[in-house]
Amino acid sequence: MANRKQLKLGVIIQGVGGNMSAWRHPDAIADASINIDYYKQQALTAEEGKFDLVFIADGLYITEKSIPHFLNRFEPITILSAIGAVTSKIGLVGTLSTSYSEPFTVARQFASIDHISRGRSGWNVVTSPLEGSASNFSKAEHPAHPERYRIAEEYLEVARGLWDSWEDDAFVRDKESGQFFDPEKLHRLNHSGEFFSVQGPLNIARSRQGQPVVFQAGSSDAGRNLAAKSADAVFTGHETLELAQAFYADVKARAAAQGRSEDNIVIMPGIGVIVGETEEEAERKYQEMVSLISIENAIDYLGRFFEHHDFSQYPLDEPFPDLGDLGNNSFRSTTDKIKQAALEQGLTLRQVALNSVASRSKFIGTPEKVADLIQQWYEEKGADGFIIHPGTPNGLQDFTRLVVPILQERGIFRTEYEDDTLRGNLGLTVPENRYTKSRRLEHVSN
Ligand SMILES: Cc1cc2nc3c(=O)[nH]c(=O)nc-3n(C[C@H](O)[C@H](O)[C@H](O)COP(=O)(O)O)c2cc1C
Repeated sequence: MANRKQLKLGVIIQGVGGNMSAWRHPDAIADASINIDYYKQQALTAEEGKFDLVFIADGLYITEKSIPHFLNRFEPITILSAIGAVTSKIGLVGTLSTSYSEPFTVARQFASIDHISRGRSGWNVVTSPLEGSASNFSKAEHPAHPERYRIAEEYLEVARGLWDSWEDDAFVRDKESGQFFDPEKLHRLNHSGEFFSVQGPLNIARSRQGQPVVFQAGSSDAGRNLAAKSADAVFTGHETLELAQAFYADVKARAAAQGRSEDNIVIMPGIGVIVGETEEEAERKYQEMVSLISIENAIDYLGRFFEHHDFSQYPLDEPFPDLGDLGNNSFRSTTDKIKQAALEQGLTLRQVALNSVASRSKFIGTPEKVADLIQQWYEEKGADGFIIHPGTPNGLQDFTRLVVPILQERGIFRTEYEDDTLRGNLGLTVPENRYTKSRRLEHVSN
């Protein structure tokens, strides 16, 4: 079974990269965001490196100023099914918004990937930060931040309820007797709530891992509460170990207050990583990426976090403008951090914009330096694992070749998969079907 003492690793596969100009790098595959061979090759490299999971981020609204990867990319569920067919151990985590979808459809989609991959699917629950998404989904307006989280909470309750529609041994498939399923083990949800009305049952069984693994991304107070209540894992991001530790302790405490075991919620910050054989090589790789970014690109990139605000109206080399509430209804936890850092450090608009695109992550350097930091954050309770954002086109290959062996040698990362389900590798327990459980408990009390 899974070893709780080991670090967990995921990698974000992000086609042509996480900024405006990454696609121009000499080693970048310029159509990577819609190149199936690229996605398969990244997933296979991560599986060779014994990563727990690949991670696909997503969004539902673009403008001409969006970064190239956002302009033309795969829908997460679709690409994960394709990756699932060519891999056998690695987890498949995809982002899907609770603000712009229906729980019946989404529960069914993730359950299907779970069967296709024999128990490796994961859902990154997001509430959708971008206002413009409403215009693509026949909605008059984007729900406000607190409402998006209320929707998400009910949505997850419904999805988890639907995933338990069938008890594990419900499908008898007895050709002799002609009985395909046991009707006592089929359950209708009959949910009727503030936002959703869903009868069920779901038209697909539970998989080997019981239910898909639920990730939550969103770090505000409401986001943390949602994670503590119903997520198996959290995708987050922090600039320093101290901030990561505070977040980690807070979310674990909130989960414990919900009566959950702290071990059953895995916290995985995203980290931008660039590895070089020497410190100079890593620095050269970082500078090469930075040199591709123009200040105009950086300003556009920054604008997306703030409801596509046009920052070109402000002087570049004066203090970052006071934006009031702008950003509160989009990427709130991120925009709060940007505003706070600008104020505390007296940054100019130019500095803030460049930082937002190519902030100098701590995880840039030699394999030993990167491994040391990963070990420190992990051992000092800043993280249970990490989601790697490779900072260069060959970043995942560099990481698996140079950093993974060090982590393995130090005994903090696996040399073989413990299990072939995502839940098993993450060390999460398989949730018992709620109806089986209540029958079992009834039996015990009788
Ligand atoms: C680390 C992290 C990753 C996220 N990834 C996505 C994503 O892939 N797609 C998306 O639409 N929103 C994503 N979000 C946005 C959140 O789901 C949420 O809508 C937004 O952050 C506002 O919530 P918050 O204030 O609780 O952070 C992400 C947020 C964080 C913090």
